[in-house]
Amino acid sequence: MLSAESAAVVRATLPAVAGALDEITTRFYGAMFRDRPELLDGMFNRGNQASGDQRRALAGSIAGFATALLADPDARPDALLARIAHKHAAVGVTDDQYTIVHKYLFGAIAETLGDAVTPEVAAAWDEVYWLMAGALIGREARLYQDAGVEPGRIWRQWTVVERRTETPEVVSFLLRPADGRPAQRTRAGQYVSVRVRMADGVHQLRQYSLSSDPGRELRRITVKRVAGTAGDPDGEVSNLLHAQVREGDRLTLSAPFGDVFLDERADAAGPLVLVSAGIGCTPMTGILAHLEANASPRPVLVLHADRSPADHALRTETHELVEQLPGARAVFWYERPGAEEPGAHEGLMDLSGVELPDGAMVFLCGPLPFMREVRAQLLGAGVPARRIRYEVFGPDLWLPGGAA
Ligand SMILES: Cc1cc2nc3c(=O)[nH]c(=O)nc-3n(C[C@H](O)[C@H](O)[C@H](O)COP(=O)(O)OP(=O)(O)OC[C@H]3O[C@@H](n4cnc5c(N)ncnc54)[C@H](O)[C@@H]3O)c2cc1C
Ligand code: HEM
Repeated sequence: MLSAESAAVVRATLPAVAGALDEITTRFYGAMFRDRPELLDGMFNRGNQASGDQRRALAGSIAGFATALLADPDARPDALLARIAHKHAAVGVTDDQYTIVHKYLFGAIAETLGDAVTPEVAAAWDEVYWLMAGALIGREARLYQDAGVEPGRIWRQWTVVERRTETPEVVSFLLRPADGRPAQRTRAGQYVSVRVRMADGVHQLRQYSLSSDPGRELRRITVKRVAGTAGDPDGEVSNLLHAQVREGDRLTLSAPFGDVFLDERADAAGPLVLVSAGIGCTPMTGILAHLEANASPRPVLVLHADRSPADHALRTETHELVEQLPGARAVFWYERPGAEEPGAHEGLMDLSGVELPDGAMVFLCGPLPFMREVRAQLLGAGVPARRIRYEVFGPDLWLPGGAA
């Protein structure tokens, strides 16, 4: 619980700290990676560092947590903490590292705000940091335990048993544990981190949703090649996977994590709406495949938007799964329709003519502008915010706005 004295100080200084967060987090990462370069090798994503997205996500989360504490000193904003804890577990964060982050973060705060950081101000923000760290450490410990791994020891070797081209930009890799032991339990909708060594020797991690039924012995990821635009470089890990990984090769994968998954408790057996755009179809296909494998009678509405049928990864498989499920149907939108999908709509996703099942749980995944637009349409159609779960394929810059 945030003490009353600290709450008063945090309230008074939140605008100044929030206003300087970009500078604080830039200095923080700069100093931390200078002193602890090993964290950039095999833990932090250097693409997100370059774009500044990770910095903004960290800053936004701390400001969001402080704001929640001011409204309720006992607050533990679940959506915010769950998202971060799952991501932390998927990159192998351990509790001792919170002291390292604390040192560099508070060094950066003192450097940026100078004399404004009196001992009282430092102590109040210290309290916020450790309340948040404590909540995350507790959640991460439980996640590691549930996954059956030691904290931070998340890696395992997998063999690529098949590489399949899905579209000109997308390939799938079907994987089996290289040690022959069973795959860990996974929930439909979750992701793994893939750890690869880049040409310069530095290890990089990226997350990929499982696009197959997680109950099976084989596991599949489906990867879109990210092309650089407007002078930005090509995505490094997706291009490496496309260019170099073939059948018979080994890949290093983390245990599966992710806070957006299919709830299979008996009291959560209502209708589902799976909404995606582009490569955001991957967790939806995993969920559909899981429902199909369990002959689920749940009503399922699959809504997907893409550039064209030829760009729509896992399109045929989606049709096949929907046909196998008695309560499922699919509606597609294409900016450039094609003869392969005569029943599809032309243009961007527009839910005005779509009948949404009452009381449905909605899963949403795709580019942020798409999710913002569709979420607004869903809310407009009367779907309560708490029934919309979303997955962001990058640092979540949406959380502080309270989308969940
Ligand atoms: C939970 C989750 C699930 C995901 N599931 C999937 C999935 O199922 N399938 C899938 O294909 N992807 C998925 N992703 C996305 C995936 O993790 C990667 O982000 C994606 O493959 C791009 O990684 P990359 O290394 O190729 O690109 P990066 O090298 O990380 O680059 C990403 C972007 O940053 C830009 N950039 C990089 N360096 C710089 C620089 N110096 N200056 C300016 N811009 C720069 C690049 O141009 C590019 O646009 C998921 C992500 C998350 C978080
Ligand atoms: C209270 C302290 C911390 C806070 C508030 C915090 C916050 C965050 C947030 C908001 C994200 C982005 C989540 C998302 O993808 O949406 C994140 C990711 C991450 N965090 Fe933390 N974090 C903390 C401590 C740590 C520690 C101790 C480490 C280990 C050194 C760490 C390493 C990482 C890494 C490696 C990622 C993924 C980065 C990426 O993929 O770009 N964090 N954290």
